[in-house]
Amino acid sequence: MTVERILPTDEAYELLGLTREIAAGELAPRAARHEHEGIFPRDVLRTIGRAGLLGLPYPEADGGAGQPYEVYLQVLEILAGSWLAIAESVSVHTLSCYPVFAYGNERQRKSLPDLLGGDLLGAYCLSEPQGGSDAAALSTRAVRDGDDYVVTGTKAWITHGGQADFYNIFCRTGGPGPAGISCLLADADTPGILPQAPERTMGLRSSAPAQIVFDDARVPAERLVGDEGVGFRIAMQALDAGRLGIAACAVGLAQAALDYAAGYARERVQFGRAIGEFQGIGFMLADMATEISAARALLLHAARLKDAGRPFTIEAAKAKLFATDVAMRVTTDAIQVLGGAGYVSDHPVERWFREAKVLQIVEGTNQIQRLVISRSLTRG
Ligand code: CAA
Repeated sequence: MTVERILPTDEAYELLGLTREIAAGELAPRAARHEHEGIFPRDVLRTIGRAGLLGLPYPEADGGAGQPYEVYLQVLEILAGSWLAIAESVSVHTLSCYPVFAYGNERQRKSLPDLLGGDLLGAYCLSEPQGGSDAAALSTRAVRDGDDYVVTGTKAWITHGGQADFYNIFCRTGGPGPAGISCLLADADTPGILPQAPERTMGLRSSAPAQIVFDDARVPAERLVGDEGVGFRIAMQALDAGRLGIAACAVGLAQAALDYAAGYARERVQFGRAIGEFQGIGFMLADMATEISAARALLLHAARLKDAGRPFTIEAAKAKLFATDVAMRVTTDAIQVLGGAGYVSDHPVERWFREAKVLQIVEGTNQIQRLVISRSLTRG
């Protein structure tokens, strides 16, 4: 089912049309095999990059496509409906370009056309084995030595770990807490940056995260993004926008699961009728559709606040929380609609169910989203 959309420009309609073509022609036919075999789709990301989809919400003057965030998120939604790992890759790359875009000095910003041009992939290194939700407690250290910072520590759950061309490293240059954190932008081929083997994940196997060990990696001091001590603020602001990307991925995945389940319910006959004619199935589909529409509305509202330059942290947390919980419920119910057929890999719904789970965890667990929302209520 094609979702009826209201977009701000004719160009945006064309962009979504192009995205649908790429999703149907390049993504959908390959997703199941790559997910089964755990092969990272670098060539598909090159195609996506050449189509201009790796720099969508950044200004054209910086090498981006100058699209509003609400349009970019709808592109992600379409990609996620065909192959979640690709949509997540686009989202993480877009997140990884934020620090230089928002905080880079004039010389660093000159690299933006390269970062956004479609050939390079970025990674965002915040989480650590001992510090995930409590990001301000991170312990990867960068010590100034002449014209370099020498970085030691381990980052965890890094999307594009081992595949990225550049890494945003959030590291401690000062004392404890958020005020001691800085952001460095390092090239992937920096000696001492050592990506580990990909994790053996439940889903998203074509783009499994990896740990990155920093073993006295020397990063030129001129690659410090912003001042020393503003790294935590950079990380949080980047995540505000990134969480909307994850919400869009969730909506796309849920929509795909609903469409598949509804198609099955129209075809599958039991007791002499298509099973969708039974209220037990029909009402389940109706609830799935309603929740998806609500999730899409939440995320588009947050995106429009962002596009208008208004605060959107809380709305982004609500969208991420709600949309990813919806994706989990909808993919669970999609399996139920298919019955036993939903539990085997002949149909994609069991994969989508496994993939939905990670969306409740990445870029801030849904418990962290509730913390962000509740603090705004209790602390004002
Ligand atoms: N925007 C700007 N500044 C922000 C901010 C935001 N959204 N959130 C917090 N800050 C600022 C605060 O204003 C405060 O600044 P001052 O000290 O100047 O007042 C400072 O940051 C510290 O804020 P808090 O006291 O709220 O910090 P906290 O330690 O209580 O943590 C938290 C807040 C929301 C729990 C945060 O730690 C958090 O979001 N945790 C989850 C981390 C997360 O999402 N990790 C996933 C990373 S994804 C990854 O690494 C893998 C990948 O491949 C993408």
